[in-house]
Amino acid sequence: MKEVVVANWKMNKTCAEARSFAKNFKELVRERNREVVICPPFTSLWVLQEELKGTGIKIGAQDVFYKDWGAYTGEISPPMLVELNCEYVIVGHSERRNILNETDEIVRKKLFCAVEHGLVPILCVGEKLEERERGETEKVVEKQLVSALKGISEDLKVVVAYEPVWAIGTGKNATPEQAQEVHAFIRGILEGLVSRDFSEKTPILYGGSVKPENAKALLSQKDINGLLVGGASLNPESFARIVLC
Ligand code: 13P
Repeated sequence: MKEVVVANWKMNKTCAEARSFAKNFKELVRERNREVVICPPFTSLWVLQEELKGTGIKIGAQDVFYKDWGAYTGEISPPMLVELNCEYVIVGHSERRNILNETDEIVRKKLFCAVEHGLVPILCVGEKLEERERGETEKVVEKQLVSALKGISEDLKVVVAYEPVWAIGTGKNATPEQAQEVHAFIRGILEGLVSRDFSEKTPILYGGSVKPENAKALLSQKDINGLLVGGASLNPESFARIVLC
C-alpha cells in the first residue's frame, strides 16, 4: 500500500505563514512516492487549497463536528470541509481527548459523520505513560478502536494513527520495535472487528516525536504504513526530509 505522511500543525501558523510554507514545501517534494497530507488550523485551509492546487498534496482538517449544520457555536461541519477540498480529517487526537475531554462516544460520532460525507478519518489511538507502565497498552488501544469503528462498512477508507501519548511532543519516540508491536496488534483488531480485507488495506500510521532522523527506521517496520508528524512538520525542509526519507 502507498505510505501516507501527514502533517498535524496543531495550533500553529497564521494564513501568511501557511502560504509561505506551502510555496516552499511544494517545490521540495516534487519527486515523491508517498501520499502527503497537511492538516493546518481551520483558518488556513483555504490558503492551502489555493497554494497546493495541482500538486497532488492533500489537505485535511484537525477536527470536525458530528452534525451537518445548526446551532453549535464554534464548530465546523463535514460539508464545510468538503467545500474546501479537504479529503482527510483527524479524529480523536489525544490532545482533544485529554485537554478538551472528548469521549470515545464523541470520537465515534465524528468518525461516522465524516465518512458519511466522503472524508477519510485519521483515527488517533494511544496509551498514556501510566497505562503503558501498568501493562494496559493493548487494552486501551483496543477499547478506543472498537468504540470508534464498530459497525463500520468494510468498503470505507479509514486511516488509523497510533500515537502513544508519552511520545507526543516529548522528543522521546517509541522505538521502531515498540511501535511495530502495537501496530501488529491494531492490524489484528481491525481484522476481528471488520474483515481481513479491511485490515490489509487500512494504513496504520505512527505518531509521536517523528523527526527526519528516525522516520526511515520507523517506516521500515512491516506494519507501519506512514507517519503523523507534529513539531517536525512545521518547517518545510524538515517535513520534506521526512516525506522523502
Ligand atoms: P510531535 O510530532 O510534535 O510529537 O506530535 C505528534 C502528534 O501529536 C501528531 O498528531
